[in-house]
Amino acid sequence: MASLTIRKLDDAVKTYLRLRSAKNRRSVEEEVRVILRELIEGREEPLTPFSAPPAPSSAPTPQRTGALPEASVTLIIGGGIAAYKSLDLIRRLKERRVEVRCVLTKAAQQFVTPLAVSALSHERIYTDLFDPQSEFDAGHIRLARDCDLIVVAPATADLMAKMANGHADDLASAILLATNRKILLAPAMNPLMWNNAATRRNVAQLQRDGVVLIGPNSGEMAEAGEAGVGRMSEAIEIANAAERLLRPPVPKPLAGKRVLITAGPTHEPIDPVRYIANRSSGKQGFAIAAAAQAAGAEVILVSGPVDLDDPAGVTVKHVESARQMLEQVQAALPADIAIFAAAVADWRVANEGEQKLKKTAAGMPPLQLVENPDILATISKLADKRPPLVIGFAAETEHLIDNAKSKLARKGCDWIVANDVSPATGVMGGDRNTVHLISRKSGEIAVDSWPVMTKEQVAIELVAHIARSVTDKSLEPAS
Ligand code: CTP
Repeated sequence: MASLTIRKLDDAVKTYLRLRSAKNRRSVEEEVRVILRELIEGREEPLTPFSAPPAPSSAPTPQRTGALPEASVTLIIGGGIAAYKSLDLIRRLKERRVEVRCVLTKAAQQFVTPLAVSALSHERIYTDLFDPQSEFDAGHIRLARDCDLIVVAPATADLMAKMANGHADDLASAILLATNRKILLAPAMNPLMWNNAATRRNVAQLQRDGVVLIGPNSGEMAEAGEAGVGRMSEAIEIANAAERLLRPPVPKPLAGKRVLITAGPTHEPIDPVRYIANRSSGKQGFAIAAAAQAAGAEVILVSGPVDLDDPAGVTVKHVESARQMLEQVQAALPADIAIFAAAVADWRVANEGEQKLKKTAAGMPPLQLVENPDILATISKLADKRPPLVIGFAAETEHLIDNAKSKLARKGCDWIVANDVSPATGVMGGDRNTVHLISRKSGEIAVDSWPVMTKEQVAIELVAHIARSVTDKSLEPAS
């Protein structure tokens, strides 16, 4: 039987479903069931706009916060005086584009009414493990799993004891036992209960089980004259903790670092219409630029002529020849890390024709070649402004490791990424690469051979190595 995740439907359909279910005072899931039943029975209401019911006066307008992905939470409200804060928590979660389905324990209903919770969450609320309406399709399992996170607020001493011992004798504890989602608890109880040895044991057990706790805070208790640790965290603190679990921050290990990269071939003119080139596609260098940018670096990419889109968020300098590439690289300094992935032409034509060279009776025009500047060697040997980490590539067709090791010494860089570019490997212009990272470790040359990977994966792995060396504090920012 297929299952349907409502939050993955498109926005127009979701809005229609929400309005219609609110009007009919049903949950969105129930409304979908009703629509399907009506369709099958041939009594469907037309899917045309209808007047939305006035929102309950207490109902907040959910704030849309741009491109945040939607998420959903099952909120279990336990029985305690702090339950009133869970009403504000619903609002705070909805502000963060989080759908909230609420479960109230029996005790919670003594503190907040199902009606208030339902009005704020815009969903029906769940209270009973043996509710035939929601249990005919194992509702507690759906509440446990058809969400991204379970939040328990307030988490009472009793609920935590049940969780720690695997009880499932009511809807809340059954959901907590049946879930495979992360659980966030916001404990709230009297300080003596919080400090009781039984609660300490239960908290330790729950933490071992991977449950995350927020709070409790210390302060005045509801009971007159009592104070200490046991106050439930504020709604905004719980909503922020939930958001961190739902949308963990993407690590940016190269934040604050400036990374300079060369990529692609160079074109060395013979005359205004002809040039010397090589088969480099630029894919590896572009992939490194994108990976470094994703890792938070400021990236300057100096690229020869390629047929690739500029990576988003990267400053790209387009050049043709080796000399132009060197000029742009020098202009981009200082940098913390420089990666030379370009296949720079070793030679250029010394006697470049100002006009198109013509066929003459005298035979082929002689092309005099002169050596291009070695950009990697030039930058590696700079006395001033040398980036603290300089990485070269070695494109070889034979004796890969030996040639790459001697390139490391000859060019004076810190690491060499060696790759076999023999035609049989398909590396030049292809999408995959097999590389060996050659570096110096305590005076020795170390060779780290990686398996065949896509050029994107090679880039991500190289950036991860760079990030590790940055966090090792082996790198100091360029002066
Ligand atoms: N490189 C460079 N400037 C050049 C030639 C090469 O910056 N004029 C850089 C490449 O970007 C690469 C490294 O030097 O990081 C090695 O390039 P490769 O083509 O493998 O070697 P070459 O130096 O050209 O030596 P050979 O042709 O003898 O292998």
